[in-house]
Amino acid sequence: MIDYFKFFGHLIRLLPPEGAHRLGQSLLRLPIPLAPAPVSDSFTWKSIEFRNRVGLAAGFDKDAESIVGESRLGFGYIEFGTVLAQPHLGNAVRPRLVRLKRESALWNCLGFPSRGVHVVVNNLRASETSRPSNVPLVANIGPHPARLKAAATESHCLEIVLAELTELTTALSPFCKMLVVNLSSPNTPVLRSLLHHPKIAREVFVPLRRHLLSIAEAKKCQRLPLLLKLPPEDINREEWTESSLQRLISPMIESGVIDGVVATNSSPKLSSSLYPNAPRDLPGGISGKPLLVRSLATVELARKILPSDSLLIGCGGITTSDDAVAFIRAGADLVQLYTGLVYHGPQLVRAIAIALRMVNRR
Ligand SMILES: Cc1cc2nc3c(=O)[nH]c(=O)nc-3n(C[C@H](O)[C@H](O)[C@H](O)COP(=O)(O)O)c2cc1C
Repeated sequence: MIDYFKFFGHLIRLLPPEGAHRLGQSLLRLPIPLAPAPVSDSFTWKSIEFRNRVGLAAGFDKDAESIVGESRLGFGYIEFGTVLAQPHLGNAVRPRLVRLKRESALWNCLGFPSRGVHVVVNNLRASETSRPSNVPLVANIGPHPARLKAAATESHCLEIVLAELTELTTALSPFCKMLVVNLSSPNTPVLRSLLHHPKIAREVFVPLRRHLLSIAEAKKCQRLPLLLKLPPEDINREEWTESSLQRLISPMIESGVIDGVVATNSSPKLSSSLYPNAPRDLPGGISGKPLLVRSLATVELARKILPSDSLLIGCGGITTSDDAVAFIRAGADLVQLYTGLVYHGPQLVRAIAIALRMVNRR
């Protein structure tokens, strides 16, 4: 088989990163063989069957445009988004995505570009018959930055978050097997402080879970699980300790409103040392190799805090199969990646899936 990734990879990397990403996604929509047959290593959680334990992380396919092609890369599941209720162009600064080749990292300050949930739903409908049924879709959702910016008070902000997440879950539930709430994006001011708001569990997650239950009752099916995406650092941009992470997630666990976490998003803390040119008010986030240590540490702490039946997805800095194995050994049930795919191509997906087949499950 022609190695299309190698063939196009050189060309893609000559382009600026955002253009390269758009070209990569267009290629994924072409009916060409992209990788050998996917590795089968099925994992089941709450009746959701994952083809294998390697997933595509959020942000790669924000608008669910290339799900069929991504499935052909061999992923066991695909997380699309972050999806917003209304279209949003993202931050106006340029460049918003920078390759840090020496570090096998990316710096990004995209700021939640989204074509909006209506376009995403149309894309999902269009691919319904050609998507493989054994690759579960995960919808990553978030509140619209412009609407948050316009909120007069913090409690108004929480109302907006709930209204938007409710709208998004209604629209996306028919297409996905679980939902991830993203309040940890490093380049949307307000978002991370909301994550730490003392009333977030009671005023957003409790009613959101109730809404998911009512959808399930109406459709006579199981409630979709709800996961929270964690940042790799606390509100002061310090690495998590067991007590700081506990303070954040315990209220959600005690009220039974989340079923697991994705650990982690990209790091604004690492931006200052690795990409000093970042705009001061928009630090952006570092993904890729330099993130590995703190994402792994977050997974280890999260495993101690979460109930044993919660789903823990490890993400951040996976560029080799050994990195992925380390996440599973630290307590993750599944892993996912983005930056590793940019630098190493789909061969990495297969190598990881094979390596994880050898690792005992907890
Ligand atoms: C360009 C880019 C865009 C991203 N967009 C999102 C996003 O929209 N929502 C989200 O939850 N995470 C987003 N992420 C974070 C990734 O999902 C992931 O958590 C992070 O990149 C760490 O994984 P990695 O080191 O394998 O890339 C984005 C990452 C990158 C590099």
